[in-house]
Amino acid sequence: MESYIRIIKNIDHMQQEARQLLQTGKTIVLVPTMGYLHEGHLALMREGRKQGDALVISIFVNPTQFGPAEDFQAYPRDPDRDVSLAESVGVDIIFTPEAEVMYDKAYQTSVDLEMLPRYLCGPSRPSHFSGVATVVTKLLNIVKPHVAVFGEKDYQQLAIIRRMVHDLNFDVRVIGVPIVRESDGLAMSSRNTYLSEDERRSALSLYKALQRAQKSVAQGIRDAGQLVHSASEVLCSYPNTKIDYVSVCDPGTLENVNRVEGPTLMALAVWVGKTRLIDNTILTIEN
Ligand code: PAJ
Repeated sequence: MESYIRIIKNIDHMQQEARQLLQTGKTIVLVPTMGYLHEGHLALMREGRKQGDALVISIFVNPTQFGPAEDFQAYPRDPDRDVSLAESVGVDIIFTPEAEVMYDKAYQTSVDLEMLPRYLCGPSRPSHFSGVATVVTKLLNIVKPHVAVFGEKDYQQLAIIRRMVHDLNFDVRVIGVPIVRESDGLAMSSRNTYLSEDERRSALSLYKALQRAQKSVAQGIRDAGQLVHSASEVLCSYPNTKIDYVSVCDPGTLENVNRVEGPTLMALAVWVGKTRLIDNTILTIEN
């Protein structure tokens, strides 16, 4: 089959392409990624395909969202495989710039939010969300999409992007896509590739902990402390796990709550060996 996917590495070229698409009345959809694509990413792209005429994805391992001791160098990359997976779901353009192109030597601007980055992953990844908000701003300015698609897997990231888009009046509609899981429940992530066989078994603890919390709520438990405690017990019962946080919080502000009284976010970050994994669910009270 002949391939029509286009790979653009140059910012001016991408902006020119976007202007042309807009002039011809096309709706542009952007799915930002860091590559090493999996079914979670592909679900975003399938959703994106339905939302407009031109489907653009970005593949850019953004250095500014990694802390100095984090896995920027080790982050998995497989550009050829990414291109064929993108093709298989009907992507039109892959925008994949080099880091030096996105951040030149004199680069000095960033986008920071006041409150949302303080919670959940914020304390252990202090500059992460500044890096994310900044690169997403740049990608929106370069690709000029009408619609941008993100995953609920990174709940705090999605909340931050929605807030930023609203606060700064970006002319883009943000769509969230539910978490895509492996058949046993592990949330798909490019970082799952770091896991050994034993660690892969322990990685399931995140999903099991969320399930335990959901079940407790169904049984009438409303106290957040109790829910955090029983989820933590599940996490600790698996070998080689270390909890970063277990939080029961307001799904809008991300502030901790004392009780589950309506839809409430439970979010987790757990080290499994040297790999930090995150997962979340909305706890709901069924009537
Ligand atoms: P990355 O981790 O590659 O994820 C790209 C998008 O895919 C994000 O919106 C993420 O939430 C979504 N995603 C990842 N795994 C998913 C899963 N199992 N189910 C549903 N969606 C999933 O997130 C980033 O890249 C970067 O921070 C980025 C936004 C590209 C900025 O650099």
